[in-house]
Amino acid sequence: MVLSDRAQTATRLLRSSAEHSYDPEVEIDWDAPLVEGRWFTPQHRSTLYGTDLWDTLSEEQRITLTRHEVASIASLGVWFETILMQLLIREYYRQDPTAAHAQYALTEIADECRHSVMFGRMIDKLGCPVYRPGGFDDALGKWIAATATGPRMYAAILIAEEILDALQREASADETVQPLVRMVSRIHVIEEARHVRYAREELARQVRAAGTRRLAFDRLVIARAAYLTGRRLVNPAAYRSVGIDPAAGRRAALANPNHRETMRWAGERVVGYLRDLDLIGGPGLALWRRSLLL
Ligand SMILES: [Fe+2]
Ligand SMILES: [Fe+2]
Repeated sequence: MVLSDRAQTATRLLRSSAEHSYDPEVEIDWDAPLVEGRWFTPQHRSTLYGTDLWDTLSEEQRITLTRHEVASIASLGVWFETILMQLLIREYYRQDPTAAHAQYALTEIADECRHSVMFGRMIDKLGCPVYRPGGFDDALGKWIAATATGPRMYAAILIAEEILDALQREASADETVQPLVRMVSRIHVIEEARHVRYAREELARQVRAAGTRRLAFDRLVIARAAYLTGRRLVNPAAYRSVGIDPAAGRRAALANPNHRETMRWAGERVVGYLRDLDLIGGPGLALWRRSLLL
């Protein structure tokens, strides 16, 4: 029997999942104390690094800011994953449970279940609030979770996964970063590599299958998802942790050339892929330009 490339990829990913899956409950020493003087994100990835506001902060406050920034990113991670799990379970429901492709969707949900528990535990251990997206973004998330299929579904997934991947890959290798954050990042990076592979291939297939009108609409939704991910990775409320007004902190971060370069760098790979599939353009381009990712 000749397997389709869809089935071949799923079979490979299922094998990899069996060999390299981690239970954060067992792999992480949750009782280990945090290490004094270590950063929670690499220092140069703080949204305020290099700004005038950064200069006004003590070293301790700067570390506190990165603590809330990583908690904010993890909060967004849980939010994304909860949306993703809903999308995947709905796809699975329509599929043949004997097909490897369907079984992989279910396996990816199992990964995301463990990730969201891991992120939740980390936020708790950091003693930070859960920084949830609010207002329009919250409504957008509910709408995507309830309705997204096809190119817009897989593109939105890929944007979130690839940006997080770039940041976590770097953090996991950085010795100035807290061991807890490095370990959480490492587990996530290893398992997400499979998700990225699955989403990339599925996105390309769905784009080939979609009509012109469908793609025009999806380009716009994808642009809005990029805008959200690029601009709201860190919730402005996190600036309160070091006595900075959220609106002032957000303004400084958006104007910060260092932060803009971080987002461009983190988005580089997924932007290149979406460009190759002709998914960046049309009326959504203005949102892309403001997303900090181009
Ligand atoms: Fe995940
Ligand atoms: Fe994922």
